[in-house]
Amino acid sequence: MNKGTFYITTPIYYPSDKLHIGHSYTTVAADTMARYKRLKGFDVMFLTGTDEHGQKIQRKAEAIGVSPKKYVDDIVEGIRELWNLMKITNDRFIRTTDTYHEEAVQNIFKKLYDQGDIYKSEYEGWYCTPCESFWTKTQLVEGKCPDCAREVELTKEESYFFKLSKYQDRLIKHIEENPDFIQPVSRQNEMLNNFLRPGLEDLCVSRTTFNWGIPVSFDNKHVVYVWIDALSNYITALGYGSNDDSAYKNYWPADVHLVGKEIVRFHTIIWPAMLMALGEPLPKQVFGHGWLLLEGGKMSKSKGNVVDPVILVNKYGLDAIRYFLLREVPFGSDGVFSNEALINRINSDLANDLGNLVSRTVAMIDKYFDGTIPEERDGGDFDEDLVRIVMETPKKVEDLLDKLQFSSALTEIWKAVARTNKYIDETMPWALAKDESNRKRLAGVMFNLAESIRILSILIQPFMPETPLKIWEQMGIQDAGAMDWESTKEWGKYPRDSKVNKGEVIFPRIDLKKELEELEKMVKPEESPANAKAEEPNHGKDSQKGPKKSETVDGLITIDDFAKLDLRVGKVIEAEKVEGADKLLKLKVQLGEEVRQVVSGIHKYYTPDEMIGKNVILVANLKPVKLRGIESQGMILAASNEQNLVLATIDKEIESGAQVK
Ligand code: ME8
Ligand code: MG
Repeated sequence: MNKGTFYITTPIYYPSDKLHIGHSYTTVAADTMARYKRLKGFDVMFLTGTDEHGQKIQRKAEAIGVSPKKYVDDIVEGIRELWNLMKITNDRFIRTTDTYHEEAVQNIFKKLYDQGDIYKSEYEGWYCTPCESFWTKTQLVEGKCPDCAREVELTKEESYFFKLSKYQDRLIKHIEENPDFIQPVSRQNEMLNNFLRPGLEDLCVSRTTFNWGIPVSFDNKHVVYVWIDALSNYITALGYGSNDDSAYKNYWPADVHLVGKEIVRFHTIIWPAMLMALGEPLPKQVFGHGWLLLEGGKMSKSKGNVVDPVILVNKYGLDAIRYFLLREVPFGSDGVFSNEALINRINSDLANDLGNLVSRTVAMIDKYFDGTIPEERDGGDFDEDLVRIVMETPKKVEDLLDKLQFSSALTEIWKAVARTNKYIDETMPWALAKDESNRKRLAGVMFNLAESIRILSILIQPFMPETPLKIWEQMGIQDAGAMDWESTKEWGKYPRDSKVNKGEVIFPRIDLKKELEELEKMVKPEESPANAKAEEPNHGKDSQKGPKKSETVDGLITIDDFAKLDLRVGKVIEAEKVEGADKLLKLKVQLGEEVRQVVSGIHKYYTPDEMIGKNVILVANLKPVKLRGIESQGMILAASNEQNLVLATIDKEIESGAQVK
């Protein structure tokens, strides 16, 4: 039943000191997709790996006095272990320090040079080391990196350049003609309007100021720019540019590159231009998902929340974590991670809804029929509706998963879980059991429950690798034909001779208050030196990390005190006055993908209409408060004296969500 090939990738990860739960997000999503496609009968290639070169790694290694290779080796081992723990079923794992990759990248570089797509010139520009990105003077925002707002360094060096500009028109055309190429659609517009249409400049693709990289084979004082090196992994991992490129021939072009939204630009501009230059087909889709954020802070500087995926998996079980990651936030949007939200999900969706359904059903079949549902069964009220809802689910799940809508797919499954639980309340098996004459109906009810659970347990397989096995064990399902994906499309396959086995509760309920207290104790204070070092390279904010000190005797604050403020550019998209409060306006403020509700005492000075469209500065990590019963999630800045109040705004247009510092 081979349906063809399906090639899916995650980004290759920077070996930063510690992977947090946000990093697991892309990989769990990709794994779910890979599992789903395998269940559907596709020949799947699922690739992940590590991105190990670059100045940033070299500096980190130097700082602790080890070689870059030694530095990354240990971390990469930890990353592999994490993926094992999370039951990630990647078919290959590439390290950009693997010899075959380095050679293939050298071949790619040489080919592009020989054909004139790479040329030698001189580079003068600004380099952001944490982002490994070059910028021209005009691209800088107030002299800082436009992506992360950190300091950039002026560099002048002999460099090789890739003729990115040559591909601009073809790229625009490709994106316009292939609406699926960049998903979600909002990211498509962002790429076209912010980067492609304003015009592309040729890209500096080699460096001479450090050496932790792949040497240019014909000019080895140069190393290849890390993004050229890293992006190539998607084809070198399949043998492109080597003696054996059979896997490349089989699986390329990729069906989907899953990436976080901050690296969509590299994947939809530089990468396709490279492939065009190489004369290779483009990936079918680049999907840019959102970020998992912590309330008022970055994941890499977690305060008050345990974000270590190893701890979380060991504490709550793998399936609970995977479920939470994919259920909590629509794939594509940003979402907030908190231990509290996680525990609430576990308690409601997993312990209450699914776990209870299974244990109640098993207990009833055991009690009323000694474990095996008899053949003589009657139908009755509510059956039709239950069967209809459950039978609609597989197709809905498939359609949603095909669009990478993990959260909606889970929502559909859980609707059917809820419908099945409701069926128990409606049919009241305990009442039926009181009268021997209802025996056939009772058997019919039990069968419908068992069958519904069977179908739902198969549908959760891509998301949750462990739970289906536990359910089958308890439901006594052993027959492979009753477990395969296609069998969800046929009602009635729960095997006749199954005997249920009462087992342990699949998802024990967690005492929220006690658990949060326990987690609180585990969280290291932010000030500890270990944490200050564990900064995630791309998402961290400040690169200058002095000693942390929050009190001063002279009344002055340090840069670290200031860094505690998360100031962001917000665009006001809605404004209305608050009934019964003359001074207050209720605003909806957009911060990138996120929308905040802010109540502000500015009505005396600004009308709602005036506010709409304004770019304001929002204190984004202020603890929410209620004003007149309305929650305010942040505060906007304004200058005021006794007579007047004027909003602080932003001088020129910049994307909402941008950091102010
Ligand atoms: O970007 N929420 O690697 P990386 C959601 N080496 N996703 C997150 C996240 C969060 N809080 N934090 C990280 C790189 N990620 C490059 C890629 S590909 C040729 C080179 C995601 O280790 C992030 O968005 O910084 C990205 O998709 C992945 O983790 C790896 O990030
Ligand atoms: Mg990153």
